Parts: sequence; structure tokens; C-alpha cells
Amino acid sequence: MALPNKPSWELLAEPDLSKVPVVEKEYDAIIVGGGMAACGAAWEIGKWMPAGSKVCLIDKAAMERSGAVAQGLSAINTYIGENSPADYVRMVRGDLMGVVREDLIFDLGRHVDDSVLHFEEWGLPIWKKHGDEGKSLKDGGQPVRTGKWQIMINGESYKCIVAEAAKAALDEMKYDLQERVFIVKLLLDANKPNTIAGAVGFNLRENKVHVYKTKAMIVACGGAVNIFRPRTTDEGKGRAWYPIWNSGSTYTMCMQVGAEMTMMENRFTPSRFKDGYGPVGAWFLLFKATVTNGAGEHYVKSDAAKAELAKYAPYGQAAVTPTCLRNHLMLFEMKEGRGPIFMDTAAALNAFLAQKKADGMDEKALKKYWKELESEAWEDFLDMSVGQAGLWASMNIEPEKFGSEIMPTEPYMLGSHSGCCGIWVSGPNEDWVPADYKWGYNRMTTVNGLFTAGDGVGASGHKFSSGSHAEGRIAAKAMARYVRDNASFKPTPKQSADELKAELYKPVVNYYENYQKTTHEMVNPNYIKPRHMAERLMKYMDEYGGGWSPYYMTNGHLLKIAMHHLEMMREDSDKMAAGGLHELLRAWENLHRIWCVEDHLRHIQFREESRYPGFYYRGDFNVTSDTDMDEGGWKCFVNSKYDPEKKEWSTFKKKLHQIIS
Ligand code: ADX
Repeated sequence: MALPNKPSWELLAEPDLSKVPVVEKEYDAIIVGGGMAACGAAWEIGKWMPAGSKVCLIDKAAMERSGAVAQGLSAINTYIGENSPADYVRMVRGDLMGVVREDLIFDLGRHVDDSVLHFEEWGLPIWKKHGDEGKSLKDGGQPVRTGKWQIMINGESYKCIVAEAAKAALDEMKYDLQERVFIVKLLLDANKPNTIAGAVGFNLRENKVHVYKTKAMIVACGGAVNIFRPRTTDEGKGRAWYPIWNSGSTYTMCMQVGAEMTMMENRFTPSRFKDGYGPVGAWFLLFKATVTNGAGEHYVKSDAAKAELAKYAPYGQAAVTPTCLRNHLMLFEMKEGRGPIFMDTAAALNAFLAQKKADGMDEKALKKYWKELESEAWEDFLDMSVGQAGLWASMNIEPEKFGSEIMPTEPYMLGSHSGCCGIWVSGPNEDWVPADYKWGYNRMTTVNGLFTAGDGVGASGHKFSSGSHAEGRIAAKAMARYVRDNASFKPTPKQSADELKAELYKPVVNYYENYQKTTHEMVNPNYIKPRHMAERLMKYMDEYGGGWSPYYMTNGHLLKIAMHHLEMMREDSDKMAAGGLHELLRAWENLHRIWCVEDHLRHIQFREESRYPGFYYRGDFNVTSDTDMDEGGWKCFVNSKYDPEKKEWSTFKKKLHQIIS
């Protein structure tokens, strides 16, 4: 039976808010989110909190399949293994064009493998080299490395496995787990300035508002997708690379209470298998497939590409071309009329076979080997992007016979994959960390008691799933210390529960006061439905903010117009209308998206250069020669801060320290 998803007064002429109960709870610590970072936090926190503490994890969905890893993964992209954390820092720094927080990355690098060992212990199958099958990583089993940092897994149930361990840990400590509650905003303390005191949300299955008081909180709700117009059209809407439920809540909720943000100009525009958004990492790294332009020429090795990369020195000449520059080269080919870009899957698979033949493998063994290869190729998609496998099947694509098109997608905002936007947090409180990088509690934002992890932590990309889990653990441990140090703090939110309820349910009131005034509920002079608001946002961002339709190009003039549109949208969002709890969720997700992309554009406006070609370009600060990368002027962080009292933003530069040579 379907669960009720509409307000109980659906048939009443006037909604009656007195029928919506407010549930008030007080905790010592709260984890908002249920993805990899939140699961890491949940798994770790009980070990460090004072005995008898009250803790709750709040997820807007069901933790078993929530967050970016919900659908599964075919690889773990951060496993240090035989490498060193210092080398990991160098890799991340190079890929993100030099502007990163090395303290955070090093700290993550030295802890991440422990999470991976636990995943295996909890039941995640990790591919092992021949001869090491059945031997765990812990016992010295050698993983199948995709690249230097990545290892292959059978990961369809990756998230279920990690969530199960997190839930068991919460359960063991008698902590609460609240699923299907969407947190709308965080609450500051009425007495202690710049200090977190709670959060408010609503239930997605029944009419109920939840007000939480807490001494401390980790907000780990992922990044943002569906902020730019997707390449998919109506038939395929809902298909995106990053999971469509990530609505920028982490950034917006923390920003709104005054947390300083960093590198919000950064975005990730992944190149994926066209239309299905299938992963390319395994094809590039494991199968060593080449990518060509329409004429069959290698897209990185041509003279034109080399000349293009030289412009982006020193980054363009690194041993591994940064992700944004790889995109840039694809776009360069397409814009020069040499598209489409092809992943030569057939040549890659057949090269493996030819090698085995040359090594003297007999016919029977060759046949078996071929089957294995074929199933690995399909499994890469079936593990994490089943829609791509569906697309291949429906288009009669046999990867061993034909290549497939690769295309840069719409941009996403995130801090854990190959992007690094997010929140400015304290690093570890150790003597090698510069003084302006640490303020006591690891991964605490600039708001007292407010912590973040995973996509939330800025200037520290390439954590991926394992790193997000490890970072959740780091944040949880630090948060427990904060709680112990502030044991006498009595959180007192500024707003009353009734005020909060009226604010949260306003879109429902808007709907029920007006829906009978037109013949079609989607169109109304007095309100806008969340669906239309979402479309409006994606269109403006695409056209003015450098989405895919103008080849990721924007400039100062376009950004000025975009900012005006966003201001109008924030004003209009007051008129959003929700005819049910699902739409109420969509309404608030929209608002989270609007705020986070507004900050994104504010940063792009401020950074007067094109540091991430291939992800976005400032046409008025284009790189045209090898002296154009402004390392003197812009090799620094761009940070921003919203002042919740004055309701004003400021954007400014912050000094970058290179810690590792
Ligand atoms: S996924 O998140 O959808 O799985 P993908 O399959 O592309 O992404 O894997 C991403 C991993 O592969 C990252 O670690 C990324 O840095 C790496 N990667 C992808 N393509 C390349 C490449 N051409 N060269 C080096 N590293 C690459």
C-alpha cells in the first residue's frame, strides 16, 4: 500500500495549521544527512561521546539507499595503500589547479584506508589480484588497482552495507535514527553569538514538524544537482550523473547561519558516457581505452591539444592532466568541429585479448577470458549506473564492437569528487597546520558547534565515497570533544516552534488558499509550483551561469543578469505552493538550490580568471597564452560569508599555504 503523501486536510477549503503537531526533542549531538559521511559519523560517534549522551541521525530518505552512493559504485576511488598521504595531497592539488587545503587532504589521506578495511570486513567484495582471491586487504590481499588511487569492487550494495554498520552502531548506543525528515534550516542560539542551537524540519510521511535542540551538529547532506539545465529532456528527466536528490542543503543551511564558505566558484562538470551518464573511470584507467575525436585522432595527444594544454602551464603540463583540462580538450575538439568524442571500448577490449593471444593463451582459455572481460565491462555500469547498461542494451551497443560517445554533462556542485566547493572548516589542531587553518575542532565550520564532512568540506576534493566516510568519522570525533567541552551549554533557539511551523508550511497554505482559482493547478496567478521554479532556475543558470548550452561560458555581464534573476527568484520563492508533502519537500529543496547557486555565481564573479577551464570559463578573462594563468593574483581561496543578522554577503580572498613540497 502506498504511504500517504498528502496533507490530511487535502479536501478542506482552508488548511488548519493547528492540526499539525510539533515534536520537540533535545540532543547532545545531531547528524543531519544519511550518506557516506553521515554513516561514517554515525559509526564513529558512540566511541567518543560522554556516556549517556543523546544523539540522533536525521535523514530525509531511508539510509539504506540514500546519498550519492545509493545506486552503488563499481570502484572505490580513494585507497592510499602502497602510496603515501603526501603523494595523495600532490595528486589532489594538481587536479584542482593548485588551490586546495593541504592540511585537510593530508588528514584525510592518513585515515581513509581504515574505512576501506572496514567496508570489506562488513561484507563489501573488493576485487583482488589473481592469486590473492579470498585474502582480505587487512591480511595483505592485493586489490585490483584501476589507477594509482582507485580499486575495483562489486559495489551494487555498497551503500546498504555501510548503512547497516552505521545503523547497528547507533542502535548499540541506543541513539535515535529519524528517517524521512527533511531539515529545512538550522537554528542559532538566542544567547550565545555565532553558536548552533538546533534545526527544524518536517516529516515526509505525515503532517508533523520536528524541532530539534542540540549542543552540536554535523551537517552532511551532499552537494547540489539539478541547478543547471540537464542535457536530458523530458523523457529522460531525472537522469543525471549525480543523484538528483542532492539539493545543496549542506551549503545553504550552513551559509544561512553564517558559516564561511570556500571555493564555491568551483564546480564539477564530469565527462560521462552520453545520455546514460555511465562512469568513465574504469574505461580510462582499468581498460586503458583511448578517447578520440570524430576523425579517430587521440584527443590529448594531437599537436593542437598539446598547444592548448601549454596555455595552462604549469597545470596543463602535469604528468596527469587535471580533470577540468581533460574536459577542456574535449570541448576544444567539439568547438573546432571535430566531434563527437568517442571512447574506443572495442579497441580496448580487443587489445587485452590480443595480448593474451600473443602470450600464448589457448582457444578455450581465451573464450573464458573474453567472457570475463565482457562481464567486467557491463558490471562497471550495472554496479553504479544501471541506466547506462539499459541504454546500451536498448541501442544494441556491443562495447566489444563499437565505441560510445563521451560528453561533458551539466555542472554539479560538490566537494568530495573531482570538485572542491564547500565550507571553510578548521583543520586538525596540530603544529604543522598553519594558525589560520585551525580553530580548535577538526572539521568545525566558523559557527560554533557546527561541523561538516564529505561534500560539505571545501577546498579538499577527491575524497570520493571512502574519504567521505573517513571524514565523517573525523568530524564525529571532534564534535564529541566539542560536546564534552561545552557540557553545560543549554541550546536555546531564537524562534518559537509555532513561528517555525508557520514558516515551513507556508507553501502548503499558499496552495490551499489559491488552487481553486484556476482550472489547472500548475498555473496560477498567486503561486508557482516547485516544478516550474526548478525549471526556471535551471534555465537561467544554463544561459547566464555557464551551463552546457553556451559551452560553459559566462562573463561579468551575464553574471550580473543572473544575479538579478536569482534575487527575483528568491523573492518569488515566497510564493511557492505545495499540494502535498512531496511538493513541500521540492519547494524547500528549490530554495536550498537557489541560495547555493547564488553563492556559486557570486564567487565566479569575484574570481576574475578562468581557473577551471572545461568546468567553466569567464569569457572576459580567458586564457589565451601560457602567461595568462594569474598565479600571483589568484592562487588563493575565494571565501564568502552571509551575515544572518545584517542579511548581507561579503566575498573575499583568503591566503593559501603550501605545506607539502
Ligand atoms: S565515477 O564517480 O562516476 O565513478 P569515474 O568512473 O569517472 O567516476 O571515476 C573517477 C575516477 O577515475 C577518479 O578517481 C578520477 O580522477 C579517475 N579518472 C577518470 N578518468 C581519468 C583519466 N583519464 N586519467 C586519470 N584519472 C582518471
